[in-house]
Amino acid sequence: MKFFIDTANLDEIREAVALGVLDGVTTNPSLMAKEGIKGVDAVMAHYRQICEICDGDVSAEVIATTYDEIIREGEELADLHPNIVVKVPMIKDGVKAIKYFSDKGIRTNCTLIFSAGQALLAAKAGATYVSPFVGRLDDIGADGLQLIEQIVQIFGNYGYATEVLAASVRHVPHLIQCAEIGADVVTCPLNVITGLLKHPLTDSGLATFLADHKKANA
Ligand code: E4P
Repeated sequence: MKFFIDTANLDEIREAVALGVLDGVTTNPSLMAKEGIKGVDAVMAHYRQICEICDGDVSAEVIATTYDEIIREGEELADLHPNIVVKVPMIKDGVKAIKYFSDKGIRTNCTLIFSAGQALLAAKAGATYVSPFVGRLDDIGADGLQLIEQIVQIFGNYGYATEVLAASVRHVPHLIQCAEIGADVVTCPLNVITGLLKHPLTDSGLATFLADHKKANA
């Protein structure tokens, strides 16, 4: 399973890289805004910096919502660095653009997936990744993990190469259940990745080992 970090914060990306388990980065316009990145030049420079820090797939989202503009913006993003994956929203023009990018060998991440039908459409158009949003479905009382399960099954039935990138993963149990289901990738904040380190028995066990060692060597 691949681990992507869902942030535009460079320090968090550095910390996840240093842990040695990071496979990529996803961003979105809200995450970029949170870091105060505005204006085309600053956005492009920020993506370049992310690609220099993380040697893995970096999803960069288009702002455009019409076919011609998505193509123009997506090609500019793809030209930035070979690791860029163009993130395209699940709308009609987005699906058409994914087909165009796929034919040109430009990799894509179809975002804002909330149904199996949307995932199927994106896979047929040739998306590299589909991003179903687990947490946002849970927020409205639906079952985000059930959607991951459905999509994994459908892609398996037909051997689609499109990878299931579980997004909006908010806590450790989400991540573990995505792994059990067989999602190809999870993207989540740094605290969810580092949350995997934690168990109270590890902490108390280590404290006992160190105390016993100290006593024996006093
Ligand atoms: C996916 O690529 C999105 O950036 C992200 O996972 C959304 O997560 P949120 O619902 O916690 O904002």
